[in-house]
Amino acid sequence: MSSRPDARVKLSPSILNSDLTRLADSLALLEDAGADYVHLDVMDGRFVPNISIGIPVVASIREATSLPLDVHLMIVEPERYVEQFIAAGADIVTIQVEATPHPHRVLQSIREQGARAGLALNPGTPTSHAIELLPLCDLVLVMSVNPGFGGQSFIPTSLRRIGEVRAAIDAAGYPTILEVDGGITTRTAAKIVAAGATMLVAGTAIFGAETGVVAAVHELREAAARNSG
Ligand code: DX5
Ligand code: ZN
Repeated sequence: MSSRPDARVKLSPSILNSDLTRLADSLALLEDAGADYVHLDVMDGRFVPNISIGIPVVASIREATSLPLDVHLMIVEPERYVEQFIAAGADIVTIQVEATPHPHRVLQSIREQGARAGLALNPGTPTSHAIELLPLCDLVLVMSVNPGFGGQSFIPTSLRRIGEVRAAIDAAGYPTILEVDGGITTRTAAKIVAAGATMLVAGTAIFGAETGVVAAVHELREAAARNSG
């Protein structure tokens, strides 16, 4: 494994499958638990088959928490909306490389507007698509499920893909965050980190945990820090 300046893996819990009538309570629990970010999954019913939250909800969440907002846009033509998501309070705006013919331009414009720019790859998209754009990325998100729904199983070939992106980041010497999203549990976290991830998204493993949100965040953090052997 390579040495990275901040060895502690960041956790970005996803509220997608949480009880949305209790959003403020959930955000407070994430803060208590020491989460690093909150991951907001925006879906348009076109790029993915599901529809989730939009700009007004992101703005409300901004008012309700001091956690940085990690906004994952699973929408076609994200260039039409990045300005509004940044105005709503997004700290990181991640677009899907498959969702626009001009990811280069969109990443640039996210940075110019003062947010951090992320690029996500579906499981079927070659990692070279992100590696080509690495100088413009503050974050690369390797999807480890096909986006659209929480609660799916981690796709094992994602480990090789994470390793490919890790190697490119290290070779370039960039501080790029390497985020992984989908099917992350206490069972899968250690090998994902060993493959090179520095930021883990988890929805079901946190909001579906019988032990409760705070314990689940702690358990996931411990699992991520465990040597995968
Ligand atoms: C999937 C979303 C994920 C999802 C993760 O389309 O991008 O962020 O909420 O959920 P789990 O952790 O349940 O796989
Ligand atoms: Zn996501």
